[in-house]
Formats: sequence, structure tokens, C-alpha cells
Amino acid sequence: MAKHLYIKTFGCQMNERDSEIIEQLLARSDYVLVSEPQTADLILINTCSIRDKAEQKVYSLLGQLAPLKKENPQLKIGVIGCVAQQEGDKICKRAPYVDMIVGTQQIYRIPSMLDRLADGQTTREIATDLEGSFIIPAFQKLLRGKPPSPAPAEFRKFVTIMQGCNNYCSYCVVPSTRGREISRPVVDIVEEVRILIEQGIKEITLLGQNVNSYGQTNAVDEHPVSFADLLYWVAEIPGLERLRFTTSNPKDLSEKLINCFAEIDILCPHFHLPVQSGSNHILQKMDRKYTRESYLEKVAALREIRPDIALATDIIVGFPGESDEDFTQTMDLLETVRFHGSFSFKYSDRPNTRSADFADKVPETVKKERLKQFQDRQDQISLEQNEKYVGTVQKVMVESGGDGKAKGRTGTNHIVHFPCSDDVHPGNTVDVQITRAGKHSLQGEKA
Ligand code: 5AD
Ligand code: SF4
Repeated sequence: MAKHLYIKTFGCQMNERDSEIIEQLLARSDYVLVSEPQTADLILINTCSIRDKAEQKVYSLLGQLAPLKKENPQLKIGVIGCVAQQEGDKICKRAPYVDMIVGTQQIYRIPSMLDRLADGQTTREIATDLEGSFIIPAFQKLLRGKPPSPAPAEFRKFVTIMQGCNNYCSYCVVPSTRGREISRPVVDIVEEVRILIEQGIKEITLLGQNVNSYGQTNAVDEHPVSFADLLYWVAEIPGLERLRFTTSNPKDLSEKLINCFAEIDILCPHFHLPVQSGSNHILQKMDRKYTRESYLEKVAALREIRPDIALATDIIVGFPGESDEDFTQTMDLLETVRFHGSFSFKYSDRPNTRSADFADKVPETVKKERLKQFQDRQDQISLEQNEKYVGTVQKVMVESGGDGKAKGRTGTNHIVHFPCSDDVHPGNTVDVQITRAGKHSLQGEKA
């Protein structure tokens, strides 16, 4: 009889992809996904610890789940992902009803852990080794078994091309939660993309913490290729309509990769290039290994080669030691680049990071004000940028629809809403004339 699996996923696309892989692994043991925890036989919380009170969020969710375990002692609860990696068995001290703690590189063990628990094992399952190679052969095994099948109507997928991170930006928890950087072999990536296309997938996003350094560190390939080379390989696979990637560290953005935007037709003109700060003083304290000037040069090169490219970024405000002048530099960078959109955050101390020990912490009230100032200006700029699309015809890949309306996405990653008949389906590409712009989306009519 089918068992019910409920997964709550926090954090990044990497975590979303991990949750999908777990779902596929567990489908082989007759687990089906449910949308409410109340009827579940297994609850997994896939956690993120990138910012702020991540641990508290997990404990408060666990607190809410505790009564379910009382009602149904057969229910198994697992904490997986970055907080599991970071906290390990400390989690069980505060939430003794947790059955499994699984770190970021051990998710492939979940089925066998569950088997042992089902056999009546009374001790908890804890796997948090961060050995830096486990995930790669596990991916291969997964691929060579029964191919994962996407749910019907799905047409975009993430494909993980590397794990971990070697950059050690001073504020970032990722190297300690996801381990050292390691690149997956090209043949495996190509094979996974082929399988997905056979199953009806049309758009692929290649995923890694810093895709620009793909193949450069701890490559498993005997003859590693660069990320730009990988893009050419993947773009050649017949049937693929759109190719994207995320995320990139500007320090590793090569000329060859910039050229891909001119040479690869299906590479979408959208680039998420996190800058974090516009001040060289702060960039140095963050240990980002690029300057404001070199960032601006790369932006100019990208726009020269692909004038329609939409640029997005990440910003941290209130990094330790950030003065009014440093913040003004960030605002000034926003005026210079005029990003189409951005994700901006207040700096927060994270465990095992160097900046947690830096002096001159910025008061919370100042961080809040700076964040608001940045976001208000970004919203105005996003609107102005989006207004430029009004009157143009855009190719929109439909994501959902019904009742005479559809929602889709342009190559530049803008969401477009438009009226249409019900013969338009997810995955179809439709020409849409843009009629109105908002700061977060566009509206249009079928051209
Ligand atoms: N505090 C605030 N924001 C952070 N980010 C990463 N670490 C921190 C931190 N300690 C942001 C960065 C990164 C995004 C994923 O999260 O902007 O690009
Ligand atoms: Fe969060 Fe970073 Fe872990 Fe992703 S890798 S889940 S963003 S801490």
C-alpha cells in the first residue's frame, strides 16, 4: 500500500532539486507525495541556514509537528539539508521525537535509513558526513536506474552540475554546510538532460553554487571542460528549447562565457550575477575577489554582446563596517547598472563564518533603513526597465493557464500574464505583445 510523504523545503533551488531527487528515490519504495503533514507516514524538513534565525524556524516547525507524532507513533520525522548538516544531533536534544538527521551529502541514504527504522530499529539515524564525493556516484546510480519521471505538465527542470563551494566569502555558511566544490562529469549531465527531454522537458537550468568555476576545482572528469564548454555541449542536445544557469560568482565570469550569450541561440538573455555590495572596501571584507570596477566591466561586456540581456543581482546591506559612504556606493552601483531585479538582504551573522567575528556590526535599525531605501529604488528601476517592453512582442513559454488566462515567462525571465483560449498548454511558446508593465511582471495579448 502506498505510504504518504510530506516534504517541506526551505532555501535555494539546490534544496528544491534535492527534495525532488528524494521524492523520486522514495517513489521506488511506494511513497507518494501529499500536500498536508496530517496524513503523512514520513515528514521531511529540508532546511536552509543561509540567513537569520534558520535554526529557530526549524525548531518551531518541529514543535508544531510534535502532536502528530503523539497521535501516530508510526510517523517518521526527518530533518535534512543545511541546518541538519550544521546542527547534527543537537537537533535531537531539543526535538527528541526526530527519527532521522541527514546532512547535505547523504540524502541518498534515506531509503535504507527508513528500511532500518521500519524494521523496528529504536535508535535514531544520523548521517552528516561531508566527504565531498558521495553525491556524484549517487547521481550516476540514480540515472542508470529507472529514469526519474517528471509529473505531467512539467516542462522546466533544474539539473545539478556541481555541489559545494570553495569560495569562502567571509559571510557565507555554504562551504561549511555543503562542503568542498566538486563538479559532476559532463557525460552524466548530458545523459540527465537527454532523459529529461525525452520526458517532455523543454527548459533546463544548470545548477551550482558557482557554476562559473565548473570543471576547475575537484573535477571528476579526467579531461575537465570549462562551464562555457559545458553550455555548448548541453545546447547541442536535440529538443532543448531554453537553457539557463544559476548562480555565478563575478570573479569567475570568463570572456568565453560572456561570448556564449552571442553564440548559443537557446541560452536565455537573463543573467543573475550577485554583486553583494558596490563598495570596494566592503567587497574586500567580504573576500569576494573582484572590485566594483571589474564587475562593471563585465556588465558592460555582457550588454555589448547581448543588448537585450536582463541583469539581476543579490545585495547584502549592513555588512560589518559598512559606513554611510559604503552604502552610497551600493546605491550608486544600482543607478549605474539599473538591474532588472534584485534580491536584497540584511546582513546576519552565521555560524562558522569569519564575518561573525568582525567588529563594527551595523545596528538593526540602520540595516532596516538601508534595505528599504535600496528596495524602494530597485522597485522604481524595475518598473522603468519593464516599461521598455511595452509595445514589443515577446516569446512567452506558458507555465500555467485556465479560465481564459495564462501565465508564462520570457527568455529574460519576466513573468507575463495574458488572456488566451484553453488550447494553450504549459510548455507551449506563444508570441505575446506586451501592453502593460508592473514592477514584478508584465501583461500582454497574444500577437
Ligand atoms: N547575511 C545576509 N545575506 C546573506 N547571503 C548569504 N549569506 C548571507 C548573510 N550571512 C545572501 C547573499 C547570497 C544570497 C543567496 O544570500 O546575497 O547571494
Ligand atoms: Fe540555504 Fe545555502 Fe544551504 Fe541553499 S546551500 S539551502 S541557500 S544554506
